[in-house]
Amino acid sequence: MADKNKSHYITAKELRRIAKENINATKAFEKRKKRKNVESEYVTQMKDPANIVEFEDLHTYFYTDAGVVKAVNGVSFSIPAGSTVGVVGESGCGKSVTSLSLMQLVQGPTGQIVSGSIRFRTKAFRRDEKGNKIPVYEMTEENGELVVKKDAKGKPVHKKNELGGNLYETDEKVYDIAKMPTEAMRSIRGREISMIFQEPMTSLNPVFTIGNQLNEVAFLHIEGISKQDAKARSIEMLKLVGIADPEGVYKKYPHELSGGMRQRVMIAMSLLCNPRLIIADEPTTALDVTIQAQILDLLRDIKGKINGSIMLITHDLGVVAEMADFVVVMYAGKIIEMGTAEDIFDNPLHPYTIGLQKSKPTVDGEVESLYCIPGFVPNPIDMPDYCYFRDRCEKCKKECAGEYPRLVKVSDTHSVSCYLYKEGNAND
Ligand SMILES: Nc1ncnc2c1ncn2[C@@H]1O[C@H](COP(=O)(O)OP(=O)(O)OP(=O)(O)O)[C@@H](O)[C@H]1O
Ligand code: SF4
Ligand SMILES: [Mg+2]
Repeated sequence: MADKNKSHYITAKELRRIAKENINATKAFEKRKKRKNVESEYVTQMKDPANIVEFEDLHTYFYTDAGVVKAVNGVSFSIPAGSTVGVVGESGCGKSVTSLSLMQLVQGPTGQIVSGSIRFRTKAFRRDEKGNKIPVYEMTEENGELVVKKDAKGKPVHKKNELGGNLYETDEKVYDIAKMPTEAMRSIRGREISMIFQEPMTSLNPVFTIGNQLNEVAFLHIEGISKQDAKARSIEMLKLVGIADPEGVYKKYPHELSGGMRQRVMIAMSLLCNPRLIIADEPTTALDVTIQAQILDLLRDIKGKINGSIMLITHDLGVVAEMADFVVVMYAGKIIEMGTAEDIFDNPLHPYTIGLQKSKPTVDGEVESLYCIPGFVPNPIDMPDYCYFRDRCEKCKKECAGEYPRLVKVSDTHSVSCYLYKEGNAND
């Protein structure tokens, strides 16, 4: 029940209480992140072996001075291997926080993954009793016997992987990223999951050349790579992303490139280590329309080449329609509808998804003015206990005053969280 006397201001006493509660709540989470040698606590199994990522009931909160912001509030969806999954929704609905949770990049101590799972299929390094990675060495025949090859200084020679780095023994495993300590996550981030951000100028360092920055990523994530191999790999990636003069761009500084070129460089950087998953958070928003189309073409082309998956975050339904195999629609920290691209575009069900479609301008449509979904998203600190969209919904009926509607499966691929629909029934 809303308190009638409640003002919008927080008293000093209340502030102290919130701060104390926040410190208590976040202390335990921060401690958990520092655990050592606890692999058994985060090794798990996929529900469906065809997936490379499975989010299940993920809750990521921010413990702010004004109260707890439930930025991601019970999100469950999967990313199948080799597919593009689009995550859409208006500003502040939790798209970025969902992806940052997957990278374990939510800013602590304020931001914390509070509960739920993020299962990820990984090529995990095998470890010896001391926790060190187990190297694979070159072998050679000596006196009819197979022995480890040694270099001139008597050191064993590492076998190289396909990227020119040292080869280590690995196992296919599934890790629950939500439970992994920070240290263990370092071997996944950048190597197996990489990220392309919205504004390349803020992600590239203005004082280093493009080559320098690409090589740096290679040195960081491809252990044992030589300078020549790093340079060759960087130039190969610049070529792959359609840069006509890769050797020239390699020597340039970020400010010497156009916005589209910089975004291509960011994509080249994300591809350096052959990731299984690329998260692209609004990758084209800062670019003009023709360049946007080129970058989307490039992403599509690259997905085929690397045989990986893409999690594409955008507020632009047009981008999702062109790129995604599956679409997840978020609203105020929750998934309100998800399905294949056809489900969402040909048969949108949730009044919010329908509103999003209507608010998209079309060239041939005779739209006189753009449709605007009325009202605002509720205050994230004080969410109602009924459907979060109710105060903006034009189809609201009596049941909608009840508890928050659960996500129902209207078909094998299509789910929606709205009282207008029942299990197995896509017609309201
Ligand atoms: N560091 C933070 N501290 C407090 N609240 C945060 C923080 N980062 C995000 N939030 C809150 O979490 C919610 C989800 O934010 P998020 O960045 O995921 O939105 P988004 O869907 O990516 O939006 P956009 O389209 O604007 O990028 C918002 O209510 C936001 O205010
Ligand atoms: S549950 Fe009711 S209020 Fe919520 S979106 Fe559906 S019709 Fe609208
Ligand atoms: Mg965002």
